[in-house]
Amino acid sequence: MSNGFSDHMIKAIRVHQYGGSEELQFEEIPRPQPGEGEVLVRVHSAGVLPIEWKVREGMFKKFRPLTFPYIPGSSLAGIVEEVGPGVTAFTKGQAVFGRTTYGSYSEYALASADFLVPLPVGLTFDEAATISGGATTAWSALFEVGGLEAGERVLIHGAAGGVGLFAVQLAKWRGAEVIVTCGTDNVDYAASLGADVVVDYKQARFEDAAADVDLVLDTVGGETQNRSFEVLKPGGRLISLVSQPSAERAQERGVKAMFSNKLPAVDALSKIAALMADGLVKTHVGAHFQLAEAAKAQDLSQSGHGRGRIVLHLAD
Ligand SMILES: NC(=O)c1ccc[n+]([C@@H]2O[C@H](COP(=O)([O-])OP(=O)(O)OC[C@H]3O[C@@H](n4cnc5c(N)ncnc54)[C@H](OP(=O)(O)O)[C@@H]3O)[C@@H](O)[C@H]2O)c1
Repeated sequence: MSNGFSDHMIKAIRVHQYGGSEELQFEEIPRPQPGEGEVLVRVHSAGVLPIEWKVREGMFKKFRPLTFPYIPGSSLAGIVEEVGPGVTAFTKGQAVFGRTTYGSYSEYALASADFLVPLPVGLTFDEAATISGGATTAWSALFEVGGLEAGERVLIHGAAGGVGLFAVQLAKWRGAEVIVTCGTDNVDYAASLGADVVVDYKQARFEDAAADVDLVLDTVGGETQNRSFEVLKPGGRLISLVSQPSAERAQERGVKAMFSNKLPAVDALSKIAALMADGLVKTHVGAHFQLAEAAKAQDLSQSGHGRGRIVLHLAD
């Protein structure tokens, strides 16, 4: 990690203690300088992921305590401002997107060169900021953890969300039969993503539309997760992105059930970008906010409903 800072001041959101969205402070900080293997990105767009309000509230403080202050955010898209020693894959002025561990709610963010890829032609910065933590999560859960195969039947909960919208399209691309759940306002949207069967969870029970399922992708948790055991065929897989499913229920039903927070293989970003550049996978930006409005953006994310990914738009 670089400890270097330039004398330029930049705007960033910082959190100084666990708490509500009022803890997202809009501040001036020195611009960081890239160290070995790092790239400094002028951030044009940053994705707003549900994990960020959970971290801010301290939901993971027992397992992964934070050092304050920190800059929230991991997904970013922007322009390379400067490269650190040893970086040969990128040059100043290049449009890139990917993931940072240093915080993306900032005018400039450091990222490891390993977690960035060139922005495909035809994709906007806002669109690209929806990929990390959305498409990459869906890719990892369905393919790397779930081993989804062509011809299998998959049930995807939360089809209109930032992960779900990619999961539906990627599962169809793989050749699976896709059943999804979403709220009434998102039924037409979920169908437009290619879902074979759309269940409006406010009007119907998914158990009545799905049986003998090979793989359930749970992005909702709670009751939805518990009820999902019923629709799996023996030997099926339940993969939750929200919480560890019951091992007892899994054993009773003869299925595998696991929580996944696995990051995808490094080449997933470029594979997904290629699918998007070819028009095979689309994204949806649900709402835009300015950097100074990060609290409003996280409050909306925390509502747990809506369509697509929320994005902080910092520059055109
Ligand atoms: N473990 C990991 O690595 C990982 C990675 C990414 C995300 N996650 C977690 O996965 C969850 C989803 O993430 P996300 O980014 O997709 O969130 P999101 O963009 O906020 O989307 C959540 C979606 O869930 C839908 N929904 C809410 N209640 C539902 C229900 N009872 N049945 C079906 N759909 C329902 C909402 O749609 P409606 O408006 O239609 O209700 C919304 O579209 C979050 O808890 C997040 O923290 C985990």
